[in-house]
Amino acid sequence: MSSAANIAKAPLPAPIPVTQTRIRPPKENIPQTKAARDELLAQIRAYNERVSPVAPMPLDELEVHARKILEETGTDERYLHYTAVLLNNEMWRETLATIPYERRLLLMPKCLRVEDKCPAPFDEFGLLCKQCGLCTIEDFQNEAERLGYAVLVAEGSAVVMSLIQTGKIEAIVGISCLPVLERTFPYVEAAAIPSVAVPLLQDDCINTTVDNDWVWDVIHLTSEDKTRRLNLNALHEDVRGWFDPGSLAEVMGEPRGGAEEIGREWLARDGKRWRPFLTIATYQALREDRGEPVPDDIRKLAVAVECFHKASLIHDDIEDGDATRYGQKTLHEEHGIAIALNVGDLLIGEGYRLIGECGAPGDAKAAMLLAASRGQRALCRGQGDELAWARAPEALNHKQVFEIHRHKTAPAFEVALQLGAAYAGKLDEVAEVISTYSENLGVAYQIRDDMADLDEDAAAETLARLRPNALLALTREKAKGDDRDYMEGLWTRGGSGGAEGAARVRDLAHSTGADERCLVLLEMYKEAAVRSLAALDNENLKGLLRRVLGKIFNELEIKGWCREYEVKNGVRD
Ligand code: IPE
Ligand code: MG
Repeated sequence: MSSAANIAKAPLPAPIPVTQTRIRPPKENIPQTKAARDELLAQIRAYNERVSPVAPMPLDELEVHARKILEETGTDERYLHYTAVLLNNEMWRETLATIPYERRLLLMPKCLRVEDKCPAPFDEFGLLCKQCGLCTIEDFQNEAERLGYAVLVAEGSAVVMSLIQTGKIEAIVGISCLPVLERTFPYVEAAAIPSVAVPLLQDDCINTTVDNDWVWDVIHLTSEDKTRRLNLNALHEDVRGWFDPGSLAEVMGEPRGGAEEIGREWLARDGKRWRPFLTIATYQALREDRGEPVPDDIRKLAVAVECFHKASLIHDDIEDGDATRYGQKTLHEEHGIAIALNVGDLLIGEGYRLIGECGAPGDAKAAMLLAASRGQRALCRGQGDELAWARAPEALNHKQVFEIHRHKTAPAFEVALQLGAAYAGKLDEVAEVISTYSENLGVAYQIRDDMADLDEDAAAETLARLRPNALLALTREKAKGDDRDYMEGLWTRGGSGGAEGAARVRDLAHSTGADERCLVLLEMYKEAAVRSLAALDNENLKGLLRRVLGKIFNELEIKGWCREYEVKNGVRD
């Protein structure tokens, strides 16, 4: 049997499909990128802190403040309404947080559904979601209802006003387009009801989209919720600080001998530190004694996770023949293959040593060692499938590529989460969800990496050492005629064609729509990760893992492809 057929044997459960409309660009009166929206929000928050305007505030007054913010920050006039809405949110935020979930209403617009596929009927209260999985209404509704919210998929209806007037509702979380927000604002303001609104990114009344992470955060806004207080950015910064040589020595002891020196230097060199961050964040979300300082042991586990990861990168670079990482020579380029192999082995051992040395109870430690060894096994099997493919390369379709991704990338995330949960003594409770979540996170993470590998500056190198890559798989699948032959040739290592070849592949990825499809699939796996959390009873971990996705995927913007996509869609609209 061919290696590709082998890989295809156990297909990933298909994530629930989303439509391409999910990644439409925002309306022009809303900042176009997530980064720009975040920046404006930070400026509005700073203004709110400084000036302390008090809600409820009529629209014209609100606009005076919004205009000031725009002037002070040199922001485009066309974001006036958007800014006013966000400022109003900030003014109400703390009040809303003190109102119990059971006394809040989540109001969603029906245009969030997928218009031509939505099976839901309507009644006088609005849309009755059939939970078909096609749009985000279902996710938000389930989560809000679980917390105790009343939920309506109807806009500005009489029902809402009567709920407010009869006092059944004390606060509103609303998703709405800017024009509707403007129309309903006077009523909400007159009722002086605390309200936080998340503007839709489009206002054309059909297949609209919203920033899912933002809605999720607002739904969970509460002065009680401990995960809200867990500052993920600060935590990530702390974790990053654990990997300079001095901090590593505190946790691991002073390095002894050349191999250990090189290992420490490699650990300290660079990296996003997502896996150790996940370990510590999971522990923080699950631990009982939240007020207590973080035990030193958890640092050992965080470093252990990074040791495993960094060892896998050393070995992967040798296996792939890659000469650079982090903009520098790979370890085997610098020191030769023999030394690099040995340092990789050393780091794997160090990971196990650190777990063994932590002070967790025996059964928790046994669970951690089992989790780490199983993760290692899964990763090597995934890597093994890829290496078997590389001996006699043949074109893979994107599903086969995802299958490799699931095996080689997901385990490291899973181990990271498992160690944090085991240290908190809660692994059994959450293991199943962690596993599904990690699979989807792993595939999504690797899809993004695959797309970045075809950025302008990386594409020629990627093609010269072609590995299973989701975007290249989709491009081949969608190409026709000569182009198809060309892609086929690349996959079977017929040569990369240098810079010209790279340009041709990038054009093709774009003209066939493979790049857009890749982004849609990335979203699908992210959404599947969100859905996996539905089975989680632990509210803190659920909130955390949801927020973590936002952090991992929004912090780094997809370069190249994403911008082109946005430009193209901007023109089309
Ligand atoms: C690299 O992982 C291997 C992949 C799974 C794409 P990261 O991109 O998280 O690597 P570092 O830790 O930042 O170096
Ligand atoms: Mg590899």
